[in-house]
Amino acid sequence: MINLIWAMDENRLIGSNNKLPWTFKDDIEHFKKITRNKEVIMGRKTYLSMLKYYPSGNLPFSKIYILSKTLKESNKFILVDDLDSFFKNNNKDIYVIGGSKLYKESMKYADVLYITHVLGRYDGDTYFSEYSLESFRLKKFWLKPKLIFCIYERTKI
Ligand SMILES: NC(=O)c1ccc[n+]([C@@H]2O[C@H](COP(=O)([O-])OP(=O)(O)OC[C@H]3O[C@@H](n4cnc5c(N)ncnc54)[C@H](OP(=O)(O)O)[C@@H]3O)[C@@H](O)[C@H]2O)c1
Repeated sequence: MINLIWAMDENRLIGSNNKLPWTFKDDIEHFKKITRNKEVIMGRKTYLSMLKYYPSGNLPFSKIYILSKTLKESNKFILVDDLDSFFKNNNKDIYVIGGSKLYKESMKYADVLYITHVLGRYDGDTYFSEYSLESFRLKKFWLKPKLIFCIYERTKI
């Protein structure tokens, strides 16, 4: 199963200066709960941004895949070259955790979407691309102050 998880504002903003544009404890807890000990894939900038919050370098995932042509090999992650063959040859539970281009290219493989809608419009520089929920159904949603949490499941390919 391929899962995408992201938080965006009303303009689809997701990032600002290599950080989240906001601080919402409820959303961070949600992200940690969904992704803890899971296999994740992310872009280089998202990885470097997460390291700021985990100075030990030990992120709380069972396996970390990173898309990058510039990072050097490390025993902390596995570099992925070709995203399409990564998804086609993987039948495990994978969580796509950003950023922008990776979300866009992963959307067609997604089985489940965890979307946090952040109410309001913030300043920043990184956006989630336009997307369609035509092939998904809303499975669950709930509210927290300034946030709407949604879980969508794919209904057709
Ligand atoms: N709101 C949210 O839910 C959320 C989630 C994640 C991230 N963010 C935010 O988004 C920002 C970072 O995202 P970003 O979109 O700027 O960068 P990113 O996707 O994290 O990283 C971009 C880099 O990843 C590599 N890369 C990405 N896609 C690739 C592909 N298809 N093939 C090969 N390499 C690929 C390239 O690295 P090389 O240059 O090394 O080749 C590229 O420069 C930060 O502000 C972060 O806080 C927000």
